[in-house]
Amino acid sequence: MRLSSLLLIALLASLAAGCAPASEPTTDDGPPTIQPANWPVTSGGLAIDSDIEARIDALMAQMSVEEMVAQTIQADLTTVTPEDVRTYRLGSILNGGNSDPYGDIRAPAETWLALADSFYEASMDTTGGRLAIPLLWGTDAVHGHNNIVGATVFPHNIGLGAARNAELMEQIGAITAREVRVTGMDWTFAPTLAVVRDDRWGRTYEGYAEHPEVVAAYAPAVVRGLQGELGSDTFLQGEKLIATAKHFMGDGGTLGGVDQGDNLSSEADFRDIHGAGYPPAIEAGVQTVMASFSSWHGTKMHGYEALLNDVLKERMGFNGFVVGDWNGHGQVSDCTTTSCPAALNAGLDMYMAPDSWEELYENTLAQAQSGEIPRARLEDAVRRILRVKFRAGLFEAPRPSERLLGGDLSVLGAPEHLAVARQAVRESLVLLKNANGVLPLQPGQRVLVTGEAADDIGQQSGGWTLTWQGTNTTNADFPNGQSIWGGLQEAITAIGGTAVLSADGSYAQTPDVAVVVFGEEPYAEFIGDREDVDYPLDDGLTLLRTYREAGIPTVAVFLSGRALWMNPELNASEAFVAAFLPGSQGAGVADVLVAGPDGAPRHDFTGTLSYSWPRTAVQTPLNRDDPAYDPLFAYGFGLTYADDGSLAVLSEESGLEAESGGEGVFFAAGETGTRTLETRGEGVTITAVDRDAQEDSRQFTWSGTNPASVVITGEATDYAREANGELGLGIQYRLDALPEGTVTLFVEDAAGTRGTLDLTALLDGAETGTWGTVAFMLRCFPDVDPASLTTVFGLEADAPFTVSISDVRLVPNEGQVLCPTS
Ligand code: BGC
Ligand code: BGC
Repeated sequence: MRLSSLLLIALLASLAAGCAPASEPTTDDGPPTIQPANWPVTSGGLAIDSDIEARIDALMAQMSVEEMVAQTIQADLTTVTPEDVRTYRLGSILNGGNSDPYGDIRAPAETWLALADSFYEASMDTTGGRLAIPLLWGTDAVHGHNNIVGATVFPHNIGLGAARNAELMEQIGAITAREVRVTGMDWTFAPTLAVVRDDRWGRTYEGYAEHPEVVAAYAPAVVRGLQGELGSDTFLQGEKLIATAKHFMGDGGTLGGVDQGDNLSSEADFRDIHGAGYPPAIEAGVQTVMASFSSWHGTKMHGYEALLNDVLKERMGFNGFVVGDWNGHGQVSDCTTTSCPAALNAGLDMYMAPDSWEELYENTLAQAQSGEIPRARLEDAVRRILRVKFRAGLFEAPRPSERLLGGDLSVLGAPEHLAVARQAVRESLVLLKNANGVLPLQPGQRVLVTGEAADDIGQQSGGWTLTWQGTNTTNADFPNGQSIWGGLQEAITAIGGTAVLSADGSYAQTPDVAVVVFGEEPYAEFIGDREDVDYPLDDGLTLLRTYREAGIPTVAVFLSGRALWMNPELNASEAFVAAFLPGSQGAGVADVLVAGPDGAPRHDFTGTLSYSWPRTAVQTPLNRDDPAYDPLFAYGFGLTYADDGSLAVLSEESGLEAESGGEGVFFAAGETGTRTLETRGEGVTITAVDRDAQEDSRQFTWSGTNPASVVITGEATDYAREANGELGLGIQYRLDALPEGTVTLFVEDAAGTRGTLDLTALLDGAETGTWGTVAFMLRCFPDVDPASLTTVFGLEADAPFTVSISDVRLVPNEGQVLCPTS
C-alpha cells in the first residue's frame, strides 16, 4: 500500500492544534476535584481468593526487591530478548504495533509461538536459586489476532458499534482469545472503552460509539468473550485470555479530538460518558486496566492518583492491575520515560516501557530502595500482578506451545471464525441512501466494480493490521481474507450476473450499475488525527460523477474510521453504504448488497450509526444529546430495504474556510508551509525543477569549498509525541551529481543543539538521476530536544554536490525508517 496523500493529511492534522469545539469548554478553570464518593461502586468482579493470596504471600516472602521491581516492568519485543528476561526477571513483555519476531511482519505463527516458549522458559529458569515467575506476554489483538498472518480480522469497533449486537461481541472476544492462544500470548490490550466525542480523533474507529450506552453494553460482553464467564470453571483458563479495559480514562474526549490530549469535561461527564464502560467491565471480571495517555484538566492519567487509586481501585474495587501505555509514564510531570516514581506512586502497577525498560528498571529499583516509592505501594503493585498470574493459572501452565490450542494452526482463520467475522461485516454496514432501489444488485446485471479500495484487504482492515499503521500489506498477506471485490464477484456471478473489476474505472461495455469502493487509507493513533471531518481525497467522487453523467446508476461503498462529510459523494451516488473498516471478510459486504436468485435481498441492512454523521466538514464535535443537535444522519440512523432510500440533493458547501497547510509536511510541491527554505553560507544555490509537475521540486547545487547548508527552518515546534511514536523524516530525492566531499544531514532545536548524520558513505557511489525515498527516525538525533525543533531538515556539504528534493515530511516507521549512514 502506498504512502498516500491521506497519510499526508493525517500527518498535517496530527500536528495541528485542535480547534475549540463548540459545545465543550474551551478554557480550563483549573481541575475540578475528584470526589470518589460520587463514583459508582462495583462488586470488584472476581473476589479475592484467600488461597491465592496465601500463595502470593509465600512467594513475595522470598522475593528480593529487584525481583519485585522487575515484575512491574514490561518491555517490547524489539528491544528485549529471552536472555534479558532471564537476567532481569521482567514481569511482562509486549509486541507493539510494529514489533514482530526478527522484524518480520509476516513471521509465521510457529515463529511467534517459539518466541513465546523462549520468553516463558527464561522467566521460569531457576538456575542460581532464582524464583520461577511466569511472564505475561501482551498483544494488541484489537480486531482479532491482527498481528498474525492468517488470523481472522474482524471489523474495527466503529463498525461493531453499528451492529448493536452484544452477543456477537462475546463471540468475537471468544474467537480472538482462541486465535491468540495459538501463538502463545496470555493477554490482549482490548477492549477499548473510549466514548469518542470528536471524530477528528485518529482513534475514533477504536471506539464502539459516541454514546456511553453502546460502550457500557459491549464492555462486559467482550470481556466475557475474552476471559470467560465470571464464576465458571473456564474463567481465565484454557482457551481464554486476560483482557484490558483501556484507556482509563477520558481518551475519547480530548479537546479537539487530539490524541493523547486533554479532556476538559466536568467530573459528572467524565464519569457518566467517558467512564461508562469501566464499572461493567470490572463487574465482568476484567483483570487489567490500561492508563490513558490523555490528561484530565491538565493532569496526565498515568500520574492521576485520585482516579487510578481512589476511584478505580478503592471506590470501584478493581483488584487486578493497572498497566501503563507505551512510555506514557514519561509524560507525567517531572518524569522521563526512564524514571517515573510518580506513576507507580499514583497507582500504576506495571510500566509499559518498550525501549526504556532497562534504565527504568535501574531507576525504579533505586527509588524503591530509597523509599521514594514506598515499600507498601511496590508490594501492592506486585501483589496485583501476581494475583492476575495466579488467577490465569500461569504457575501451573506448561510452556505456551503445550497449552490448549498452542500451535494448533487450524484455529487461525478457522472457517467458523471467518463466518462470524462475515456476519459482523454484514451487521456493521449502514445504508445511508438507496435511491430508485438500486440496491440490492439484481440477477443478470453487468456490474462494474472499481475504486482504489475495491480489491485491497489491507485498506478495508485499517490500522492495527499486521503493522501499526496497517500500511505496507498486500492481499497475499491475508491468506484467509477476501477483498470486497472478491466477495462481490462471487455473489454476482452466482446469480447469473457479470462482474468486472476495473482498476481505473474505465469500461468496454456499459455496465448496468457501477460500484465504487473507496475511502480512508489506514492509519493508527495520532497519525490519524485531523483538523476537520472533511473527506479530502478524490478517489471516488470523480468516478461517481462520471458514471452519473453517463446515466449509469452508482453505488458508493465508503470505508472509513469515522463519520466524514460526504455530501458531494452522496449527491453523486444512487446508493451509499458506510462500511467503516470491515476487516478481512469482504464477502460480508456482498451478502447484503447482492440479491438472491429471486431478486430479493439475501440479508437486509441492520446496522445503525453509533456515530452521528456530519452535515458539514466542520461540524465536530457532534454527538447525540448535544443541545443544538443537527446532524445529517442522526445517531441510530440506518436504512433497510423496506425504507424509501431517496435523499434530497445536499449542499456542497463544506464550511471549511480555506485549505489549511500543515506542520508535518515540511516541503512538498515546491512549498514549505509554515517554515522557510533557506541557504546558509556561501556557494550553495536553490533552483526550481520539475518532477511530476512544473516547479514541484528544488535542486540544491553546492559549488564551493566551504561548508554551506540548505535548511527548512522555523518556529520551535513540539515533536516529542512523534519521536516517541517512532516517526521519521522522509525525504524524496534525486542525486544529480555525487558529492565530492562530506555531506551531513541535520536537525536543530531551539537551544541551538544540532543533531547530525554523516551521509557521505551512504552517498558514495549511489545511483544518480532517479528519484528515491529515504527516511531517518527522529530518534536518530538523540541529543536534540524533539519538544522544540526549529530546523526540521538541514543538509550541509563542503564540496561540489547537486541533489534535487521533492518532498520532506514526517513519516511513520514501518520498519524501513532507520538511521542510515552507509
Ligand atoms: C496504544 C495502546 C496499545 C499500546 C501497545 C499504545 O501506543 O495507545 O492502545 O495497547 O501502544 O501497542
Ligand atoms: C508501536 C505502537 C505504539 C506506538 C506508540 C509504535 O511504534 O508499534 O504499538 O502504540 O508506537 O506511539
